[in-house]
Amino acid sequence: MSARRYHSQLRQRSAERRVETHPLTWRLREDGAVLGLEEYVEKDGYAAVREVLSHRSPDDVVTTMKEANVRGRGGAGFSAGMKWSLTMTGPNIPRGYLVCNADEMEPGTFKDRLLLEQQPHLLIEGMILGAYANHSRFGYIFLRGEYVEAARVLSRALEEAREAGWLGRHVAGSDFDFDIALHTGAGRYICGEETALINSLEGLRANPRAKPPFPGQSGAWGKPTVVNNVETLCNAPAVMRHGAEWYQALSGELSDDGGTKLYGVSGKVARAGLWELPIGTTGRELLERAGGMRDGRALKAWLPGGGSTGFLLPEHLDHPLDFDTIGELGSRLGTGLMTVVNEDQSVLSLVRNLEQFFARESCGWCTPCRDGLPWTVKLLQALERGEGEPGDLEMLDKLADDLGPGQTFCAHAPGAAMPLQSALKHFREEFERGVATPPRAASAAEPMPAGDSFTRS
Ligand SMILES: Cc1cc2nc3c(=O)[nH]c(=O)nc-3n(C[C@H](O)[C@H](O)[C@H](O)COP(=O)(O)O)c2cc1C
Ligand code: SF4
Repeated sequence: MSARRYHSQLRQRSAERRVETHPLTWRLREDGAVLGLEEYVEKDGYAAVREVLSHRSPDDVVTTMKEANVRGRGGAGFSAGMKWSLTMTGPNIPRGYLVCNADEMEPGTFKDRLLLEQQPHLLIEGMILGAYANHSRFGYIFLRGEYVEAARVLSRALEEAREAGWLGRHVAGSDFDFDIALHTGAGRYICGEETALINSLEGLRANPRAKPPFPGQSGAWGKPTVVNNVETLCNAPAVMRHGAEWYQALSGELSDDGGTKLYGVSGKVARAGLWELPIGTTGRELLERAGGMRDGRALKAWLPGGGSTGFLLPEHLDHPLDFDTIGELGSRLGTGLMTVVNEDQSVLSLVRNLEQFFARESCGWCTPCRDGLPWTVKLLQALERGEGEPGDLEMLDKLADDLGPGQTFCAHAPGAAMPLQSALKHFREEFERGVATPPRAASAAEPMPAGDSFTRS
């Protein structure tokens, strides 16, 4: 039953998905059940591992990945090949780890879940290739704790792969040894930040670490560590099997970024779901694939790739959804899953909801994030009640600036600032309407709620 529900999220029938165009999903079963080892191997599975381990050097794998221009699908869009080329290796350097980031807690994001629950061997194959390229001998899948079904599927797939010789000593009969452990997190958003993830993996509190040193130099247990997103790693087998040029060509004229992307839509549309499409597909096409707006209501705004991206407007629908273009529009591609907002919804309330989430998930390490986010929430709540005060919008502008890039230890706070800043820019009058007129009289007798450190005059 669960398989059917999750399957319904991929809105492309198997007849529509082909090896030439859908490297991530062409093998997925029509009924949404897990693709077991036997079927995966029948459908060219582990062929890339066999070929690479017998014929190609780790440097060659890194070069191909670089040429394919696979940009990290975890949100930041950093070139996977570049990241792999920066991992410290050498005769006196200890062998490190390859970590798959499967923490997927970004609001509105459910793409890695599909791969984890339905095609675990594609991820295992991608991890073997990544580990080989980075001279790792051990890997971890850091899985979001709530993904119980994925944990079950992955545990079984890891066993299958070990029994068949795809993991363990002498992978596929080569002299390369590699194994993977599954580690389930405790369900905190900050564990998805790669250095907080490493701390958590080591059993430490999940605070982000200072960079430099980057994980590629000193990561888990002080060893060189590569952290990649699930979808990023799942691209590696097709890149190795068909080559960088083939992969690049998948996006054709649409984008300079190579390959396809698992795009998704949720929110006020007729049919939420996921599609594998060439990277650079437009928001309009996604919206159409989702059956358009629900109940015929008009589109008011959309988040292009999760809660930590900036709002875009209907006029932005025809731009390609790739990392650079969406960046130029003042937002971020993020995870590439759109959240659609209709004309009846209050952007102010949506932003308050997101900021409440970000405030709760702050690790508390630095002041603008730990204190600024709850303060932001308080101001937004007052505006929502129509009890805002003159100066509140300017204070929100200031708080958004203080949360921005370069002011905090990690990208959690800048991510939280994006929906706030963009909403203040595009929907300022909604916020202005929340300022009480005439201003509320300051009441000395007004009691302060318990545990409240932010007073309002
Ligand atoms: C607060 C926060 C949460 C994050 N959560 C995730 C996540 O759930 N999954 C993920 O792949 N990357 C997440 N990232 C990005 C990771 O830090 C890292 O950039 C990514 O795993 C690298 O993989 P990639 O290069 O393959 O994209 C998060 C970043 C931040 C700041
Ligand atoms: S920005 Fe927030 S989540 Fe990141 S280190 Fe600072 S307090 Fe922690």
